[in-house]
Amino acid sequence: MTVTNRIAANELFLQCVEKNSKYEENRQFCKHGWEHLMDVARIAYIINLERGYGLERDLVYAAGLLHDCGRYVELEQETPHEKVGARLAKRILRECDCPETWISQIGQAILEHRKGRATSELGDLLFEADKRSRPCFRCEAEAECNWKSSQKNQKIKY
Ligand SMILES: [Fe+2]
Ligand SMILES: [Fe+2]
Repeated sequence: MTVTNRIAANELFLQCVEKNSKYEENRQFCKHGWEHLMDVARIAYIINLERGYGLERDLVYAAGLLHDCGRYVELEQETPHEKVGARLAKRILRECDCPETWISQIGQAILEHRKGRATSELGDLLFEADKRSRPCFRCEAEAECNWKSSQKNQKIKY
C-alpha cells in the first residue's frame, strides 16, 4: 500500500482532520478539511510535473495530506500550525512505516509551507499549491478576507 493510503487510514491523521473540520464548521473563510488537503496534494503534483522536479507522486500526496494536520492545535492554543503540524506529521508517518528520508523531507516541507521561501522543492510545492488551491473567485467572504488582492485567485489556474 502507498504511504498516502496508509496516512488516509491512520487513526491519528483522521482525528486531526475531524478536529480541523469540527473547529471550522462555522468558519466563513477557507477551511482545512479533506477537500483542501486533497486539492493541495493534486495541485502540488501538477506543479511538480510542470516544473520538472520529478518528485514521486506518493511523496507529494503524503505531504499534501499532512500539511495542515496541526491546524486544530493553532485554533485551540494559538500555536503556529506549521510547527505543531510538522511534529504530528512525523508521528503519523512513523506509524505508517514511512522511510526516514521521506519523514524528514515532509517535516521540513510542512515547516516551510507558509513562508514562501522554501529551501526544498517539496516545501515550494506545498506553498504554491496551498495558495493556488483557494477559489477566491467564488468566495462569499472575499471582501473580508485579509489576503492581499494580488494573492487572491481571481481566475482558475489549477
Ligand atoms: Fe497551512
Ligand atoms: Fe493548507
